[in-house]
Amino acid sequence: MDDTYVDKGLENVVAAETRLSSIDGEAGELVIGGFPLAELAANATFEETVFLLWNDRLPTADELDDLRDDLREHRAISDETRNLLREAADRGQSAMDALRMGAASATLARTDGESPERDALVAVAQLPTAAATYWRYRTGEEPLDPRSDLGHAANYLYMLTGEEPSDAATRGLETYLNTVVDHGLNASTFAARAIVSTESDVVSAVTGAVGSLKGPLHGGAPGPVLDMLFDVRDTGDPEGYVEETLDAGERLMGFGHRVYRVRDPRAEVLSAAAERFYADDGDEAFFEFAREFEETAVDVLAERRPDLTLQTNVEFYTAVLLNGIGVPRDLFTPTFGVARVGGWTAHCLEQLEDNRIVRPRARYVGETGRTWTPVENR
Ligand code: ACO
Repeated sequence: MDDTYVDKGLENVVAAETRLSSIDGEAGELVIGGFPLAELAANATFEETVFLLWNDRLPTADELDDLRDDLREHRAISDETRNLLREAADRGQSAMDALRMGAASATLARTDGESPERDALVAVAQLPTAAATYWRYRTGEEPLDPRSDLGHAANYLYMLTGEEPSDAATRGLETYLNTVVDHGLNASTFAARAIVSTESDVVSAVTGAVGSLKGPLHGGAPGPVLDMLFDVRDTGDPEGYVEETLDAGERLMGFGHRVYRVRDPRAEVLSAAAERFYADDGDEAFFEFAREFEETAVDVLAERRPDLTLQTNVEFYTAVLLNGIGVPRDLFTPTFGVARVGGWTAHCLEQLEDNRIVRPRARYVGETGRTWTPVENR
């Protein structure tokens, strides 16, 4: 095999076959479980999307009820995990570190045996509880027990805020969770597949995936997008801000994408969802401001870099939507994890259907033929 070509970011490597999602970066199309994103995101509950990814079809009404019951039964985290999250909050550890601890200790609350499918259920059910528990401790509040009368999205918002969310907020979060549930072989998904390919367990794979998502190159952009929007709203000069950012050689957060050469289809869906939410239940002026900022930014980027197509990416409207529905800024990335765990677990199950251990090779560029020098002579 030719060792001279090294594809460092693996962009040109097709390392798996998947029926979970497909991305066309030139056309700006994303298909999830066979559905165009807009069709799925606007209609499905998160539970339906998870069933679709796990089973490659939509659930019947009875199957959906069963999945909802199963998820509700597995929402509670163990006392030990709760203590760990309190400790993480007290010591000022980040929300993603806490989510990783929550994921890693999820098996402590597993009561009904271990199988890839049970572990997938445990991971999807418990990540929202872990994120919300950490957040309550961090803000000096007692964590709330999950509410079994609420669906997955509504219960997450309830556990965060202590209030039953409005239908508009629940629908907004549901659309967000569906929109980012899966996106090809991104870094965290690849990490999950590589871990489970050793025939390790799904909870370990999810824990590794949370660690991968924590990196600022993967899950970290929406927080800075929100900071930027608040800053610019205060200064009242969007064009000046964009020009200054680019003059300083910095990147404008929420714009540009490795794969999409047109507007990220997820930005399309989330901007429509944010518009609906803010019209129903939010600060419409903030939404209008965000939209005007987007237009200005895209125009300035096109003027300054006519050689590139720098369009709005998913993170821009993630920040606008999640802020509107009451998800705290510091929980944007954990909330991404609460969604993506649907994709991670589905990829694990898919990997195990036709498994081969993930084991690429590396080109050796080190020394050879060294002779040993005893430590006292070095
Ligand atoms: N603002 C200004 N210039 C940009 C931006 C931006 N947001 N994005 C890319 N460019 C420029 C780069 O400076 C580079 O210019 P150069 O050719 O003069 O060096 C050129 O476009 C190509 O940049 P690359 O880094 O090769 O583009 P890539 O496709 O790898 O980058 C990325 C994608 C990392 C998302 C980039 O667009 C970026 O940093 N955006 C801002 C951060 C952000 O919004 N991240 C979230 C992305 S969405 C997601 O990944 C889930």
